[in-house]
Amino acid sequence: MRIIKSVAEMRKVTNSLTWKSKVGFVPTMGALHKGHISLAEAARKECKIVVMSIYVNPSQFAPNEDLDSYPRTLRSDLELAENAGVDYIFLPTDAEMYPEGYKTWVNVEEITDILCGATRSGHFRGVTTIVTKLMNLIKPDFMYMGEKDFQQVAVLKKMIEDLNISTVIKACPTVRESDGLAMSSRNTYLSPEERKQALCLNLSMKQAAALYQRGETSLTVIRNSMTEIILANQGRIDYIEFVDRDTLAVKESADDKTRIVLAVFIGKTRLIDNGDLV
Ligand code: PAJ
Repeated sequence: MRIIKSVAEMRKVTNSLTWKSKVGFVPTMGALHKGHISLAEAARKECKIVVMSIYVNPSQFAPNEDLDSYPRTLRSDLELAENAGVDYIFLPTDAEMYPEGYKTWVNVEEITDILCGATRSGHFRGVTTIVTKLMNLIKPDFMYMGEKDFQQVAVLKKMIEDLNISTVIKACPTVRESDGLAMSSRNTYLSPEERKQALCLNLSMKQAAALYQRGETSLTVIRNSMTEIILANQGRIDYIEFVDRDTLAVKESADDKTRIVLAVFIGKTRLIDNGDLV
């Protein structure tokens, strides 16, 4: 695995590769876990060259968020990436990605105003900007992303379509701990007590699916039942929403294409999850 730290070096590698190889790209912010690794493994299976990036992108964190405390575990990240068969790992610095005088931002409208975008102001503008920059440098055929960040995938698909970018997003299933908690770099913030409480996201989605299976289609009833479970576990709800899993349009009543999306604070840690009713 070759470590690349500068934009110039990344560009050189890209120029030597893309004309002859299928390139798969896995963008990450590090603190790698099995969720990230599943993306690298999918890329390894389908592509000739696998590039991963690790960059804690400051522009997608609001001033009150966890940029400074975000876990940074580069040593073990490098080992995990190498074992997963990553060929090139790109570790740019802030000075490389946002040099002095940086002025350009990519913004997808409307679908970035709802769900996570409603409470995380500027978050998606930071994500779309950095992913555009990374795609321009790496020129991947495929970009592997987790369904765990369901809205992120939808926003980036829209951006790719609107900007005529030729990279295709491969959305991969959420990897979970054995008890059902979706893996996340932010799970390391949880105390042992909070780690137990955090199960309420998954439990509430299971309850929603069970209600729907029994014929319940009222999203008010389903939401109330989910809320009960989350409150009983000391969770503070940011949002529970029901959207069409293809278009992200908000649903009026439950059907087979309904995807539950939710964000819940457990203590100070904001966790997200999503899943289908069927
Ligand atoms: P990060 O949170 O590090 O996630 C990197 C990729 O791993 C994303 O595509 C995310 O959806 C995926 N991922 C995270 N947890 C997962 C899980 N449990 N199962 C499967 N996939 C999972 O998302 C970002 O970084 C950033 O916003 C980024 C796209 C890198 C731009 O900075």
